[in-house]
Amino acid sequence: MLIPRYVLLLIFIFSISAVFGQQSPINFLDSGKKTSLRGLSVVNDKIIWASGSNGTVARSTDAGKNFTWQSIKGYEQRDFRDIEAFDSNTAVIMAVAEPAIILKTRNGGQSWYKVFEDTSEGMFLDAMDFDEDGINGIVVGDPLPNQHDLYFAMTSNKGESWRIVTGNSDKFQTLEGEAMFASSGTNIQYPTAIITGGSHSRLFYNGTHVLPIIQGKESTGANSIAINEKGTIGVIVGGDFSNDQSSADNCVLVKLQYHPKFTIPQTPPHGYRSCVIFVSKNTWVTCGTTGVDISTDGGLNWNLISNESFHVVQKAKKGKSIYLAGKNGRIARLEE
Ligand SMILES: *[C@@H]1O[C@H](CO)[C@@H](O)[C@H](O)[C@H]1NC(C)=O
Ligand SMILES: *[C@@H]1O[C@H](CO)[C@@H](O)[C@H](O)[C@H]1NC(C)=O
Ligand SMILES: *[C@@H]1O[C@H](CO)[C@@H](O)[C@H](O)[C@H]1NC(C)=O
Ligand SMILES: *[C@@H]1O[C@H](CO)[C@@H](O)[C@H](O)[C@H]1NC(C)=O
Repeated sequence: MLIPRYVLLLIFIFSISAVFGQQSPINFLDSGKKTSLRGLSVVNDKIIWASGSNGTVARSTDAGKNFTWQSIKGYEQRDFRDIEAFDSNTAVIMAVAEPAIILKTRNGGQSWYKVFEDTSEGMFLDAMDFDEDGINGIVVGDPLPNQHDLYFAMTSNKGESWRIVTGNSDKFQTLEGEAMFASSGTNIQYPTAIITGGSHSRLFYNGTHVLPIIQGKESTGANSIAINEKGTIGVIVGGDFSNDQSSADNCVLVKLQYHPKFTIPQTPPHGYRSCVIFVSKNTWVTCGTTGVDISTDGGLNWNLISNESFHVVQKAKKGKSIYLAGKNGRIARLEE
């Protein structure tokens, strides 16, 4: 029997779309470096900065076609868990512990200078965040040993200088065993929303609020918070990183109002998640060691789009592109 031509054409079209339909939305741009990337800052669709262990900073100015890698001289043993980039030349990076250090570059990473240092024993910085203009910023850390205050330092000049403001408020008292995870530099949303984990997992937002997120162990709790552009809705993700396949109590939506109102997703993200971002309108993306999920209904239902492990996801501050980074120096773009 002869098959009419248009049927063949249809079969051809369907098989093509099937092939494309199965293609992974994750486009790997670089990988294979011996570094765990947890810092990521995307200036626009072309300018991407990432930071991580072994004193590593990676930078691309051509949408990830070519990355320049460096292990900063004198800081080769340091773990730069967070980065904030302001343009292709200017960025600050944060090394978490003992001493806690923030370095800045103004020449695209050719040289770095120290803008903050605290040599206190037991220091542990978790995350930095800046306002939209990148002028005013804050860095948050775990309480120092035998203290209960969250640690804060602030800048009002693009990270050129910082002042420690810990202890100026009784609003930021932690409970025994409550701290933060420096897993993606997103525990704080400038200026007022902070999430904790460990023995207790809470939201600090106009007071403290116990989160309906798994807690009670050192490995459990909220890891990341993102807020929509209007500042009305937040999404918080986390879980138990020692049991990263589990989706138990790993995500909550929060209406940011006088008394924050929590909603548990109907279909949570598929496993422990270390980072979440707001994309647009009702779309959010989250990632972790067991994969990447997207929600297009305001965070109620999450669809696993990849089983690839990533620590951090960021959207271009001025642009549409979404990039991810993680273990072994992997950096990828999420294709639409
Ligand atoms: C890189 O850092 C890791 C810790 O994150 C360390 O175990 C490893 O030895 C370092 N590798 C190199 C090549 O310095
Ligand atoms: C990538 O960047 C390096 C360092 O800046 C440069 O030497 C090289 O020519 C670039 N490669 C491409 C393909 O642009
Ligand atoms: C925070 O609480 C104060 C009262 O303590 C209230 O006036 C204010 O509106 C609250 N802020 C938000 C954003 O809900
Ligand atoms: C993830 O892995 C599971 C189990 O191997 C598989 O069924 C599923 O199709 C994968 N999902 C994606 C988006 O690759």
